[in-house]
Amino acid sequence: MTHKIILDTDPGIDDAMAILFAEAHPAIDLLAITTVFGNATIENGTRNALWLKQKYGMKADVAQGAAAPLRREPVGPTTVVHGPSGLGDVEAGEVTISADPRPAWQYIVEAVKAAPGEITLVTIGPLTNLALALQEAPEITGLVKQVVVMGGAFGVNGHRGNVTPYAEANIHDDPEAADVVFTAPWPVVIIGLDVTQQSFFSSRYLDALRDEAGEPGRFLWAVSRFYLRFYSERIGLDGCHVHDPSAIAYVIDPTLFTLREGPVRVIDGGPAIGHTLQKFDDKAHPHDEWAGYPAQRVGVAVRDQALLALYRETLVAWGKDC
Ligand code: BDR
Ligand code: CA
Repeated sequence: MTHKIILDTDPGIDDAMAILFAEAHPAIDLLAITTVFGNATIENGTRNALWLKQKYGMKADVAQGAAAPLRREPVGPTTVVHGPSGLGDVEAGEVTISADPRPAWQYIVEAVKAAPGEITLVTIGPLTNLALALQEAPEITGLVKQVVVMGGAFGVNGHRGNVTPYAEANIHDDPEAADVVFTAPWPVVIIGLDVTQQSFFSSRYLDALRDEAGEPGRFLWAVSRFYLRFYSERIGLDGCHVHDPSAIAYVIDPTLFTLREGPVRVIDGGPAIGHTLQKFDDKAHPHDEWAGYPAQRVGVAVRDQALLALYRETLVAWGKDC
């Protein structure tokens, strides 16, 4: 079975890891890459996406999206993690192809309407483009197959936040947009830090990818150097967590994850801005801001070794032909 996906991304080092994973796996039909601010400015992120498309001969369209969040003050690009232009020590070369003329939200709306029930939206950046698409065309909730979001942190397995003590970066970048997406009547699966921080690309794993996965393996190794320095210096780890590729892994093999059901809301102000909370029991309360919203599914456990094997095998098989 092939999964048609639109990948909404802020490229981004682990975004590049996810983009190549999606392109490489035969069960994924990568229709488009839509870009959003986040790890990099929208200009740099779009350039990175176009450069990857050009470099690997991808058929996916690239459409540029939001440059800033819906309402909050922009946090600014995460250069400390992803480098000055988003791909760490690697600079995107000359780009000779262009983005689709439509803004990302419009691209998403038109693509979803043209293939009702077929498209999975996978987001690995702030949720601004999806919120704008919902604002313009709320009827798309009944037309997408599913939405898979890398973002959030629910305190499961001890993971509560990475950019603040209680917020994950993609949600912190645009909490209002995330709340719009999570409370909309469409099926959302949230792959947050609760599971992505349970999986780990060690430096030895990335060295093996460099040696076994052809040019893409060497590229992923090179692009991950900046990221690994950040992890080593700031977090004390010899490797990195598997954030964005986990969302692609979920689409390919949902059995890698255990999910928990219940409505999800996002804190949109104060010290816990960007914090995600799921109500996963049936208790009645006199005031309930979760009541009436759809039960979404949140990743609470991952078979990390199987996920790592899936990523490695996919890249090694693809790398032989590149
Ligand atoms: C998420 O934030 C970004 O820095 C990464 O690309 C990933 O999407 C992890 O919190
Ligand atoms: Ca990302």
